[in-house]
Amino acid sequence: MNDRPVLELRDVSKSFPGALALENVDFDVRAGEVHALLGENGAGKSTLIKIMAGVHTQDEGEYVVDGRAVPVTSPRDARDLGVSVVFQELSQVASLSVAENVFFGRLPSRGAGVVDQARLHREAREYLHAVGLTVDPATRLGFLSVAQRQLVEIARALSQDAKVIAMDEPTSALSHTEIETLFHLVEQLSARGVAVVYVSHKLDELFRVSDRITVLRDGRKVAERDTERTDADELIRLMVGRELDSLFPRTPASPAHPGAPLLEVEGLTSAMVRDVTFSVHAGEVVGFSGLMGAGRTELARALFGLDATTAGTVRVGGRTVPRHSSVQATRLGIGYVPEDRKADGLVLVSTVRANMTLAILRRLAHIGSRVNRSAERSIARDTVERLRIKAGSIEQQVAALSGGNQQKVMLARWLVKEDLKVLILDEPTRGIDVNSKSEIYRLVAAIAEQGVAVLVMSSELPELLSMCDRIHVMRDGRIVDGYRHDEATQEKLMSSALGGR
Ligand SMILES: Nc1ncnc2c1ncn2[C@@H]1O[C@H](COP(=O)(O)OP(=O)(O)OP(=O)(O)O)[C@@H](O)[C@H]1O
Ligand SMILES: [Mg+2]
Repeated sequence: MNDRPVLELRDVSKSFPGALALENVDFDVRAGEVHALLGENGAGKSTLIKIMAGVHTQDEGEYVVDGRAVPVTSPRDARDLGVSVVFQELSQVASLSVAENVFFGRLPSRGAGVVDQARLHREAREYLHAVGLTVDPATRLGFLSVAQRQLVEIARALSQDAKVIAMDEPTSALSHTEIETLFHLVEQLSARGVAVVYVSHKLDELFRVSDRITVLRDGRKVAERDTERTDADELIRLMVGRELDSLFPRTPASPAHPGAPLLEVEGLTSAMVRDVTFSVHAGEVVGFSGLMGAGRTELARALFGLDATTAGTVRVGGRTVPRHSSVQATRLGIGYVPEDRKADGLVLVSTVRANMTLAILRRLAHIGSRVNRSAERSIARDTVERLRIKAGSIEQQVAALSGGNQQKVMLARWLVKEDLKVLILDEPTRGIDVNSKSEIYRLVAAIAEQGVAVLVMSSELPELLSMCDRIHVMRDGRIVDGYRHDEATQEKLMSSALGGR
């Protein structure tokens, strides 16, 4: 390992209207090193990465490459200096092909502006192979899952043949095997002398891949540690600035539930969901486990009326939910927090307040037809406080919030709905820091206690095991196994998911 940093950010500060995102931060990375960035939601990690990428320019401080301060004011500048970035919020073009996304802005040409398609696809295939993605490079990106799009984003960064690759939560949507492939790739990159900057909320990942860890808190660098010389407890303490209460507050019971279930699903079938039957009582938290592509997200979408179903019934409190109408589903008391908050849920150009109260506008307007604005504002303010959402004000645009805080706003939308009966959460803690995670678990427990039937689709087994009264395992669109809380283990869930039983 070479000791001189390839890339340094010296004493950088960056503020946005209403937020000081970074304050006098020093950060550097050496050739062949993996330097991780850790911090709570809104700590400034993505802002630092975006400065490296030339998306933002620092207000103060220097961008130093190979010991020389350089002006970087555009993504082009950063790329020319050999810095390439995998962004947290994927910045791809859904209407273009996978190959075109990999080489976006750098398409191989046969002269006279004609794209060399054969070469484009050949080279794209090579990088897709490197990240373990087996899709036809000609596929339109819009058809890919979030995980696949994330891999395309990584392939794009690789194809730039960079000296520095920064990855902002590259594994947030990836499955276990895909993560292993990525780790292998990171190892190869550092063996080749590439400097890697790695952002993740998953501490076990940081211990696996990183050599050094820098911790940010509220825009300031609070510590830098050699990975070998620190442990999870210390990192969490540094990150949140205090000792953390237990991560999983809920102790699921398997109580006897008298009476009819609140949610009854029978023979539900859609393009990706096959003959699914289950029920959930008021106050129960039921988990859905399975591998990527097992049909969990599709089940959630079908229940909420976003996807068309071809057979089966969904009943809430005995009332049948009309097919393929999320408006009716909402009216009957179903709430849904999607996996891809950007594409399916949040109105990014709108405010925190408006996003939170979207599902209760009818109630807020119940007297006359005008929305009661002061009630709306006070609900939004209370909720921001209760969920500790980091926003300048309730009138801030959601687009300007950090990733984890956007997720909280999405959850808040349903928490404020008083007549909520069923809440469906798809990967509720994706991109959420440890501290906020435990808050979200607490919230879910509180919601269940109020008598809501909660469904949790999650890839994180510890999360399911600790929150859920029962866990169903899905495979190929079907429910293949079910476990009570007291009989479920990681091994059983994995083996059911893989078809081992
Ligand atoms: N374009 C912007 N306009 C206004 N404020 C912004 C903008 N981008 C970031 N911020 C603010 O800067 C702070 C740092 O945000 P940043 O996205 O860097 O956090 P993060 O550490 O990446 O968080 P997460 O773990 O949630 O991704 C937050 O308070 C955020 O609201
Ligand atoms: Mg971020």
